[in-house]
Amino acid sequence: MNLSEHLRVLHLQAQQDVNTASRLEELDALEIRFLGRKGELTQALRGLAELEGEERRAIGAAANDIKQALETQIKEARGRLGEASMGRRLFEERLDVTEPGRSPNKGHLHIVTQAIDEITDIFARAGFVRTRYPEVEWDWYAFEALNMQKDHPARDEWETFFMDTPASDRWGKMILTPHATSGTARCLADKQFPIRAINIAKTYRRQIDVTHAPMFHQFDGVYVAKGVSIAHLKGILEYFVHSFFGAERSVRIRPFHFRFTEPSFEVDITCGVCNGTGFLDGSVQKCRACKRGWVELGGAGMLHPNVLKAAGIDPTVYSGVAFGWGVERNYMMKEGTRLDDIRDLYKNDLRFLQQF
Ligand code: DAH
Repeated sequence: MNLSEHLRVLHLQAQQDVNTASRLEELDALEIRFLGRKGELTQALRGLAELEGEERRAIGAAANDIKQALETQIKEARGRLGEASMGRRLFEERLDVTEPGRSPNKGHLHIVTQAIDEITDIFARAGFVRTRYPEVEWDWYAFEALNMQKDHPARDEWETFFMDTPASDRWGKMILTPHATSGTARCLADKQFPIRAINIAKTYRRQIDVTHAPMFHQFDGVYVAKGVSIAHLKGILEYFVHSFFGAERSVRIRPFHFRFTEPSFEVDITCGVCNGTGFLDGSVQKCRACKRGWVELGGAGMLHPNVLKAAGIDPTVYSGVAFGWGVERNYMMKEGTRLDDIRDLYKNDLRFLQQF
C-alpha cells in the first residue's frame, strides 16, 4: 500500500469511528489517536520525507485536507454528542421546583405531658413551685408520715406495689408510690417556709379498668404557713378549676375522710356535659355523666396535726392545706376531651395520640 492509499484508508477508518462514537470521551480518544502528535495521521506523514517534488506536494496537500476534514468532523460530532449528553443530564438531574415539598413527620408532646405543663403553669402563677419526688418510695413517706400507721386498714385503699428489696429500720419497706401525697410529706420534711409546692409524679396501683391504669399521674399541692385556713384551700381550688376547666365551672367541697387531713373533703366541680343542671338540654332526661350536676375531682383538706408533727413542724404554730388528684382523670373531665378509656393514653397508638 503506497502512502496515498494508506492515507485514504486511514481517513475512511477515522470517519467511521467518529461517526459511530457515542460519547464525548470516545471523540477525545479518537482525536488523539488520529490527529495527535504521535497519532496515526502524523505517523503516516513521516513517509512524505521519502517522496519528491510534485508527488510530495500533492500528497502533502491531500493529507492536509484529510486532517482538516477530520477536525471538522470531530468538532461537529462533539457538538452533536454534547447536546445529547446535556439533554441526558438535564433529564437525569431534573429538578421540578414546583413539586410540592415533602414535610418531615412532626411530633408533639403526649397529652398527659401537655396537661402536666398546663397544671404546672397554673399553679406557678399562684406561687406554687413544682417539685418531683421519687417514684420508688419508702413506706414512711407514702403512709407512716401521713398518719397511716403500720397495719392501718386505710392503707388497703392504695393497692400498693411492694419492691422486692430489704426494708429499712427507719423508713420501712420500699414501694412504688401509690399517690403524690408522698411528695407532700417530703416537702413538709424539708421545712422551707412558707411551703407552697405542687408535686406532680408517676403513681402506681394494682388496678386496671376503663378508669384506672396501673401507672398514672397525680399532682399533690401543699400550702403551709402561719394562719392557713380552709378559706385558702377554697381560693386555690376555685382558681385552679376556673383556670383549667373554664370560668363557667363551679367548685364545691364536701366532707369526707382521709387519714392525713382533718377536716377532709372531696372536691366536686359542676359537670361539663349538663352544665351542672343534672339534666340534658333543659329536658327531663337525666345527665348520665354526673350525679345531679356534680362530678368528683379529688381530695383535699387541712393537714392533720400528726402529719405536721411527723415532719417536725409544730402544729400549734403552723397550719396547712393539701389537695390532690389524678392528672389523667383531671384531663378526662375537661370539656371536649371525650376520653372514655384511660388505658388508651398508654397504648402508644399514633392514630389516637395525634388527635390531641
Ligand atoms: N392522695 C389521695 C389519693 O390518692 C388524694 C388526696 C386527698 C390528696 C386529700 C391530698 C389530700 O393532698 O389532702 O386518693
